Amino acid sequence: MNSKGKALVFLLCVTGVSVLLRGYALKYCDLKYQSICACKRCLSEDDQWFMKFVNKSVKPFLSANTSLPESAFNWWKRLQGERGSYSAYSKTVEGLFEIVPPKPDLVEPSSYRCRTCAVVGNSGNLKGSRYGPLIDFQDVVIRMNTGRTKGYEADVGNKTTHHIMYPESGMDLENNTHLVLFPFKIQDLLWVTKALTTGFTGTSYMPVKSKIKANKQLVMVISPAFIKYVHETWLQKKGRYPSTGFMALVMALHICDEVHVFGYGADKDGNWSHYWEKLKNKMLRTGVHPGSQEYDFILQLKEKQKIQFYSGW
Ligand SMILES: *[C@@H]1O[C@H](CO)[C@@H](O)[C@H](O)[C@H]1NC(C)=O
Ligand SMILES: *[C@@H]1O[C@H](CO)[C@@H](O)[C@H](O)[C@H]1NC(C)=O
Ligand SMILES: *[C@@H]1O[C@H](CO)[C@@H](O)[C@H](O)[C@H]1NC(C)=O
Ligand SMILES: *[C@@H]1O[C@H](CO)[C@@H](O)[C@H](O)[C@H]1NC(C)=O
Ligand SMILES: *[C@@H]1O[C@H](CO)[C@@H](O)[C@H](O)[C@H]1NC(C)=O
Repeated sequence: MNSKGKALVFLLCVTGVSVLLRGYALKYCDLKYQSICACKRCLSEDDQWFMKFVNKSVKPFLSANTSLPESAFNWWKRLQGERGSYSAYSKTVEGLFEIVPPKPDLVEPSSYRCRTCAVVGNSGNLKGSRYGPLIDFQDVVIRMNTGRTKGYEADVGNKTTHHIMYPESGMDLENNTHLVLFPFKIQDLLWVTKALTTGFTGTSYMPVKSKIKANKQLVMVISPAFIKYVHETWLQKKGRYPSTGFMALVMALHICDEVHVFGYGADKDGNWSHYWEKLKNKMLRTGVHPGSQEYDFILQLKEKQKIQFYSGW
């Protein structure tokens, strides 16, 4: 063999060996870190208390091919007195997925990634907190209902990657924010379909926006089966259904590796309000939601170091 030939064989061997070694290295890494994450602590780490609640096989969002169990539909339709049938539901969902992506836009877990999230409630305890930069620092920033940032950036930040709403709490979003629909009835699924296209003309228990500004490519819909799971598994069926804030938190525990929680609970004087309002009264009112049960649970998650909780004081 001439020297050129030898050099070629040598090169082939070296690349072959490095490809092989790389294969071993990758396998080794995967074994070592399994399917956890690249954070200092990962949520899915073995913790029996936590794992009693988490069921990763319940998917938070609908996709075009989700087949909702009829039992979940029957539970869900009682939330706001839905009269429509399962087939009416299916038809509406079909129409919805003609205008929004068939699969939710999600970052998959990986041993090379640390998906950090800020869940931002609307509590008055954010007033004067200066949490803005800390909130914006997280990869994912989840806000909800009528939560706003304009004029409050220093305390609440200015980034919103996900905004959870239902028609009655709907608002316009930036083009890079995911609209996350929390549906309570078939009409809510129709609302998002229409409000993003030709306009919605129905009525609800309070006025709803006929049109909404949001990026259709970034719409995600919370699955009725997930709402049922949060109610039954996380809240032990307390209250009629979970609040948006609690849903947001459990959703984050499913799609993030590290969860930072802001703007939940009362302020330091025990008063409840939204950060953008003047305090009107001292009453704690959570309507159909199991308010104190949810809050106690959140404090337990904090104690067990599953979330980082920022009380604002
Ligand atoms: C998790 O959820 C799936 C789907 O709903 C269900 O079949 C399964 O029994 C659940 N697992 C536990 C441990 O509850
Ligand atoms: C739905 O689609 C996803 C990927 O697009 C796939 O992983 C999943 O198995 C599908 N589910 C059903 C019920 O077909
Ligand atoms: C949002 O905050 C970042 C960093 O704090 C800043 O650079 C940016 O200008 C802010 N944007 C707006 C619209 O306030
Ligand atoms: C919004 O984002 C989409 C991509 O998701 C892009 O195609 C569209 O042009 C953007 N619209 C505006 C008004 O910036
Ligand atoms: C909280 O409520 C108490 C009693 O109603 C009131 O005296 C106090 O001023 C309130 N605190 C704030 C920050 O408004």
